[in-house]
Amino acid sequence: MLQATNLWFGYPHSPDILKGVSLAIEPGKRLAIAGENGSGKTTLARLLCGLLKPVAGAVTVDDLNTSDPAAVFEVRRKAGIVFQDPDDQLVEVMVEREIGFGLRNLGLEMGEIKRRVTAALEVFAIEHLRRRPCHLLSAGEKQTVTIASIFAMRPDYVILDESTSLLDAGSRRRVLHAVDRLLAETGAGLGFISMRIEDIWTCDEVMFLREGRIDFKGTREAFLGHLDKIGVPLYGLPELLRRLERPVPGLAQALSRGRDLSAGSLADALLELAEAREARDTGDAREAGDAGDAREAGGARDAGDAGEGGGPCR
Ligand SMILES: Nc1ncnc2c1ncn2[C@@H]1O[C@H](COP(=O)(O)OP(=O)(O)OP(=O)(O)O)[C@@H](O)[C@H]1O
Ligand SMILES: [Mg+2]
Repeated sequence: MLQATNLWFGYPHSPDILKGVSLAIEPGKRLAIAGENGSGKTTLARLLCGLLKPVAGAVTVDDLNTSDPAAVFEVRRKAGIVFQDPDDQLVEVMVEREIGFGLRNLGLEMGEIKRRVTAALEVFAIEHLRRRPCHLLSAGEKQTVTIASIFAMRPDYVILDESTSLLDAGSRRRVLHAVDRLLAETGAGLGFISMRIEDIWTCDEVMFLREGRIDFKGTREAFLGHLDKIGVPLYGLPELLRRLERPVPGLAQALSRGRDLSAGSLADALLELAEAREARDTGDAREAGDAGDAREAGGARDAGDAGEGGGPCR
């Protein structure tokens, strides 16, 4: 289990960024971490994978305490993070070297590195990028490469810090399917930092940070019931509603009022939507191949969730 217990953290000139945060991510489970800008999500992500050490409280990765200097390598091996800004993560010139970078650091033998790089390129559908220079990739391609490189290391826990924010709708769907597949294969736990309702909806549990404290923690259904108290928009909600093929009576009005939300009705709507989208996407793919993705991408890319930078990772 990846666990934070009563975590306190501050930067030299910004004390009390996190104030008593506790959470647990079990193997095979997914925790969504949402929160306002500056509420401490990225700071928490770095603490969870040992890049920062708590001022008080503790982070443990299975039986390892991230504050134990002797555990640094093993913590890095077990808990991988994909940064908000891929440019903070990319270190190699070529894509295949980039995906192999963490694997070389793990000390794997060359044959295994090659196998894992090829598998990662295949599962994320980026074989065509293999010999491309990273700095010439599009922002979405860079994000896909950074996600592929972390999953290639087969960590026991993965933290995605708004790591799909630069992907268009079609690419996001492909990447999240690959993530689903890899999590199912490896049984890894996921911490999914996102303000996107579709991402949050894939998680078993949701927490919402406000000013460094946990404002809400509970099931995704309970989170939907809490939306009116959040007061910040979740990306994707209007788009989800627009795409609803069978509108849920009263749902749009309830959302526009921003209160009286029935968790059940929104939950039902999202489930229906997920099914409708899945059916439509499958149909699109059969009819038009990738053209469907391109059409969708043009209309669905939304601004505002591209984020600030991170620090060194691997
Ligand atoms: N290296 C640093 N030194 C000083 N203050 C910092 C540093 N990094 C972050 N902060 C501050 O800590 C607070 C939390 O930042 P953090 O990046 O963790 O928030 P966030 O929830 O990830 O925000 P966003 O939604 O914009 O990504 C912010 O007020 C930020 O200005
Ligand atoms: Mg952040």
